Amino acid sequence: MASISTTVPAGSGLSDVKELTKIERIGAHSHIRGLGLDDALEPRTTSQGMVGQLQARKAAGVILEMIKEGKIAGRAILMAGAPGTGKTAIAMGMAQALGTDVPFTMLAASEIFSLEMSKTEALTQAFRRSIGVRIKEETELIEGEVVEIQIDRSATGAGAKTGKLTLKTTEMETIYDLGQKMIESLNKEKVTAGDVITIDKASGKITKLGRSFTRARDYDAMGADTRFVQCPEGELQKRKEMVHTVTLHEIDVINSRTQGFLALFSGDTGEIKSEVRDQINTKVSEWREEGKADIVPGVLFIDEVHMLDIECFSFLNRALEDSMSPIVIMASNRGITRIRGTNYTSPHGIPIDLLDRSLIISTSPYTEGEVRRILSIRCEEEDVEMTEEAKDVLCRVGMETSLRYAIHLITASWLVARKRKASEVEVDDVRRVYSLFLDEKRSVQYLKEFQDQYMYNTFAAEDGATPMVE
Ligand SMILES: Nc1ncnc2c1ncn2[C@@H]1O[C@H](COP(=O)(O)OP(=O)(O)OP(=O)(O)O)[C@@H](O)[C@H]1O
Ligand SMILES: [Mg+2]
Repeated sequence: MASISTTVPAGSGLSDVKELTKIERIGAHSHIRGLGLDDALEPRTTSQGMVGQLQARKAAGVILEMIKEGKIAGRAILMAGAPGTGKTAIAMGMAQALGTDVPFTMLAASEIFSLEMSKTEALTQAFRRSIGVRIKEETELIEGEVVEIQIDRSATGAGAKTGKLTLKTTEMETIYDLGQKMIESLNKEKVTAGDVITIDKASGKITKLGRSFTRARDYDAMGADTRFVQCPEGELQKRKEMVHTVTLHEIDVINSRTQGFLALFSGDTGEIKSEVRDQINTKVSEWREEGKADIVPGVLFIDEVHMLDIECFSFLNRALEDSMSPIVIMASNRGITRIRGTNYTSPHGIPIDLLDRSLIISTSPYTEGEVRRILSIRCEEEDVEMTEEAKDVLCRVGMETSLRYAIHLITASWLVARKRKASEVEVDDVRRVYSLFLDEKRSVQYLKEFQDQYMYNTFAAEDGATPMVE
């Protein structure tokens, strides 16, 4: 591998692919737009879709600060708390607050068992997805105001078109010859005289910066959204520093001979040879020394972390010590339970040595007021109108069963309300769906009463779980 490529060919639509998976995953948390902290990291009671859970949000804010500084690698954070207390929600809030430049990878621990690769390879990929490399590149640009575009058409209309483009700055004016490709891109960008444009000399890419102020008075064919810019000063040719961020995993995939960049869309990356990774690590550290690249340690969020087994945990222990490690945030709702792959029990189902390396943030159950506010926010998010009384009832349901169950009743009750052509959900609609859909407690109750009629009814199993045939 002589040189290492970090760019995906233009127009490959890679960014769209990423967007899609992101939208898909945040459904239940789409009302969360950040952690809702002020500049001093003090949590506002209700802000950016976040309600209560002040202590944990503040702690998350401190971690966020640590990530933004970008200096510290390889810390583990564990969010521990009962189901439905907002662990995943807080992680989503952190992802939002980080912005797009810092990589944030979300992984449900069980995912790594279902991929067609070894567990450690899947974890390695997840780690490398969470490390960004910010690459600085000098590019040569031509930047100027278009004075004239002249395109020569041959008499027959056949053959390649040629033309001339006159560009100026406040100090100079130059005429450039145009080839077929440049003429096409000028047409595509709808460049006309009076536009200020840049042309990337290496790729030939044309970017329209806006219209020159000197043309502000010709109001022919000018949209309301026209942006006016100054005519550039100085030389037409400029050097500009461009910065783009890619993840280590993307560099791995693009440079692995068997995969190629196409594997990035199919998600079908398979295992990547360790020599490839070694070469890339060496190259990246060279770039760092030459000042061409920076490492941006991101976040790897492993939800339901108790689903990892002992091999994965020991991999984590080791991987966290690497200087190229991201911040790993884990979440678990388990108490003291068996560590997968062993007969030992441990708090949260996580081995003690890993717990010892982690900062633990705990989440606590919500008060009635907080549940009500979360439900109100969800009503807005799901575009559901609900009377105050109905919200009271739903809130009581939430306190007695679970927050999630109550959230799920919102859209269901709205559908019932719409069936009777009402514009608002009323108490009766909530009652109706409450009787239609069982919550966990009532479902268990029902099972206890009618267990003889089910298959494998071994209700007496010691740990409460109903075993399948073994
Ligand atoms: N503080 C909060 N502010 C706003 N919404 C919240 C808050 N806490 C939880 N929610 C919402 O309540 C629902 C349940 O919370 P969440 O999924 O984060 O729980 P969890 O702690 O991850 O539970 P589990 O352990 O079962 O995974 C989600 O839809 C979440 O967005
Ligand atoms: Mg969760």
